Amino acid sequence: MAEKLYYPNSELARMAHCSSMEQYKRMHERSIKEPAQFWGEIAKQFYWETPATEDKFFSYNFDLSKGDIFIRWMEGASTNISFNLLDKNVKSGNGDKIAFYWEGNDPEDYSRLTYRKLLEETCRFANVLKSKGVSTGDKVVIYMPMILELPIAMLACTRIGAIHSVVFAGYSSDSLAERILDSKAKVLITTDGVWRGEKLLLLKNICDEAVNKVKKHGHQLESCIVVAHLRRLNNPQGNPKTKGVNGTSNGTLMEMPNISWDDDRDAWWHDEMEDAEPSCYPVWMAAEDPLFILYTSGSTGKPKGVLHTTAGYLIYAATTFKYVFDYHPGDVYWCTADCGWITGHTYVVYGPLANGATSVIFEGTPFYPDNDRYWSIVDKYKVTQFYTAPTAIRSLMKFGDDLVKKHDLSTLKVLGSVGEPINTEAWLWFYNLVGHSKCSIADTFWQTETGGHVITPLPGATPMKPGSATFPFFGVLPELLDEDGHVIEGEGEGYLVFRRPWPGMMRTLYGNHQRFQNTYFDRFNGFYCTGDGARRDADGYLWVTGRIDDMLNVSGHLMSTAEVESVLAEHSSVTEAAVVSKSHPVKGQCLYCFITPTAGMEFDEKLQVELKKKVRERIGPFAQPDVIQHAPALPKTRSGKIMRRMLRKIAAGDRNIGDTSTLADESVIQLLFELRPCV
Ligand code: WT7
Repeated sequence: MAEKLYYPNSELARMAHCSSMEQYKRMHERSIKEPAQFWGEIAKQFYWETPATEDKFFSYNFDLSKGDIFIRWMEGASTNISFNLLDKNVKSGNGDKIAFYWEGNDPEDYSRLTYRKLLEETCRFANVLKSKGVSTGDKVVIYMPMILELPIAMLACTRIGAIHSVVFAGYSSDSLAERILDSKAKVLITTDGVWRGEKLLLLKNICDEAVNKVKKHGHQLESCIVVAHLRRLNNPQGNPKTKGVNGTSNGTLMEMPNISWDDDRDAWWHDEMEDAEPSCYPVWMAAEDPLFILYTSGSTGKPKGVLHTTAGYLIYAATTFKYVFDYHPGDVYWCTADCGWITGHTYVVYGPLANGATSVIFEGTPFYPDNDRYWSIVDKYKVTQFYTAPTAIRSLMKFGDDLVKKHDLSTLKVLGSVGEPINTEAWLWFYNLVGHSKCSIADTFWQTETGGHVITPLPGATPMKPGSATFPFFGVLPELLDEDGHVIEGEGEGYLVFRRPWPGMMRTLYGNHQRFQNTYFDRFNGFYCTGDGARRDADGYLWVTGRIDDMLNVSGHLMSTAEVESVLAEHSSVTEAAVVSKSHPVKGQCLYCFITPTAGMEFDEKLQVELKKKVRERIGPFAQPDVIQHAPALPKTRSGKIMRRMLRKIAAGDRNIGDTSTLADESVIQLLFELRPCV
């Protein structure tokens, strides 16, 4: 049955950067046939200290039989990203334009930053980093809430060619320590704390735990720079070092919690900034010099340091932002993602600033102080493009339509979705209620690894089908492969892979090129393998169906079953743990864990609580399992491999288990169904 098509509204299409499917097809075809010319013209919008030459514009190898995988764009060119994002905008007369509106957790806390001021603060902080001994190629870990100092810190790194690695400030001290160690970072940037809704998080203390852990592994962090975020709340003039004055999330005063301090290592951001020079000459970086490392979950449990480089990432972030959100001067764009994720890198910081855009940065949660916070922010800033995740949409749907209708959302033109497949019900609610049936929805499929959108509609051109990410972006050549690696032409379902690189694609896994090749290129030689499955319908639309490896997606957070299993198995009462995903109405997927207790140990309520707590502490609160089931034994093959496929069926309560003849002990299945808790 053909799905209903939703066409872009004609006014949006008329004004759009890409305004018809014909234009899209022409541009896409050219981007594939003449990549150097296509991207070369786009690159001209930016400043290059040394320009690229056409013959060396693009080279790559995706064929392991011919040697190592490599991807190079604009070889020989040099530039500085912060210069293109900031100086260029200021020089072209946009110095007074707002780069970021900042909206705090408390609606009473807000501020703004012009391009000129952002440039100045970036330069100041770049000078602070230099004074701490940071130079080109050094790693800086950033563990911060969504405050303006976060993009300033990222941009300051790019100013001097330091490599930032942002760690989401919801991760535990263990996860933070692991990332500091792997990246060999010299400097850590954080805040004293943050309010998330009504919850207080003491980030500096988490950092101290992490720093002590890395010390035990022989790595010494040289400095830690701390923004006095909590200490200045409701008390902008207050002395942050004074204990006992300051704000809570709701404007009342509270006793400031103690934070630990090491005078040799720790410094307050504002003290350092006070005497720093407001200008800093940019360091010109080669096109393929590293820009940042961002850790993402790997199926073995150890996080992968995805590495992005300079020139290709810049042109790809800029181009996807411009076309996918159809950004025009005067628009106010808002992406709800945290800078701890790739979405916050490409579509809060790099893409918008490369286009001279005005964006909103929001510190808080959709539910504080009320469940209409998102809609009141859209209303307050007259947002024109709103980019969020299906899990947020589903959780807001629950509160009913009136909370949305209360607000004026008429400025909206484009709605974006990212992180997981969006179900039809959520798509329609977003389209009809939030978008008043006149906005285009951009269901953007991409990954930390892809750097930017790879499969997405263009708002003025692509007729939409709810739940389909539609067609490839410029430069992207997707294929569906069957189990044996044969290309599936036309309609069908298979492994989603890409035949060649686009400019914004990752270049390697930091410090482990072998793992990069094994993870993404071993399965199907000649192709980059996403790890997702997808279907192509009769009209050529692509539908991403979800992960086909041992990864799962909880509220848009990608994690591996292996990393959760290894945490569970550390508990002294646990012999073995197997984790699978189970579908969840709001989170998309949730964690369902099977636990085999150590002989003589009780599987009781206490153990379940302890295990949940352990996962929260070790990985982060978002990873807390929903279900912990007793499993005196696990379904295994004769060679000892756990049959997760069957565990997924048990978790779903689906008795249609399929062939069990490969199991060493078939009776396990019946037993596990009997022990299944009511969920
Ligand atoms: C995985 C990547 C890209 C930023 C957010 C997550 C899933 C992402 C979609 C979408 C279906 C999607 C995939 C992908 N995913 N967007 N529009 N439709 N699935 O980045 O943490 O690297 O996760 O998220 O499974 O592989 P990430």
